[in-house]
Amino acid sequence: MDKLKLLTKMHYEENMKDSFYNSETAKSLDNNGYITKKDWESTFFISHRPNSNINDLTTLSQDLRKTMEEYIGQLIKLAERISVLMCENLGIEKSHIIEAFSGSNGPSVGTKVAMYPHCAHPELIRGLREHTDAGGIVLLLQDDQVLGLEFLKDVESTLHRVMAMKDGDRLSIATFYNPFGDATISPASELLLPSHVRFQDYLDHYTKTKFDDKGLRFLSLKNMANGNQDILK
Ligand SMILES: [Fe+2]
Repeated sequence: MDKLKLLTKMHYEENMKDSFYNSETAKSLDNNGYITKKDWESTFFISHRPNSNINDLTTLSQDLRKTMEEYIGQLIKLAERISVLMCENLGIEKSHIIEAFSGSNGPSVGTKVAMYPHCAHPELIRGLREHTDAGGIVLLLQDDQVLGLEFLKDVESTLHRVMAMKDGDRLSIATFYNPFGDATISPASELLLPSHVRFQDYLDHYTKTKFDDKGLRFLSLKNMANGNQDILK
């Protein structure tokens, strides 16, 4: 990972830095006040699965391409391991996420390589504006020297942003393990609650359990949906 960070930083210095500081965004920073529709970042994207485009990115050194490929091989294994653990936690089939993400051609895996270059006026622009991510699992290899990534705490699908920083360049290598484009996405059917329950049955059950634990009520509804009516007696 250290080698990947080092090679990526070298690539930025040699191939991206000059054009970034010569960009319209960088040049307009002093005189336009706060910039709301642009980000202070220099990026490129690599597709890995189902098809890799890394050999089309000819400005990347051979060493960087090889190191990235090795890293991605490990990351896909990690994403699959995390998928299995999430399924175990949810009490559903271990392979559910991997299969759901596969579509017709395996998962979609890509990496956004981003440098957040040091910024003379961080109060005038964000490194990356506030947003939530789409997709499945995001694995982030980030700078341990220059800070800037911020999360809104305790919310689902976490809102986050990158602050522009004065004191150094911040590297971020974010790998997205996503469903393939033609995969149909939905909650796992085992987790839909209630599922296919007649409202009158639900109401009868509710009346009996109104003052009891709500979690247990929904658990018994789940059993009801799975055809185990005994739970209602
Ligand atoms: Fe993000």
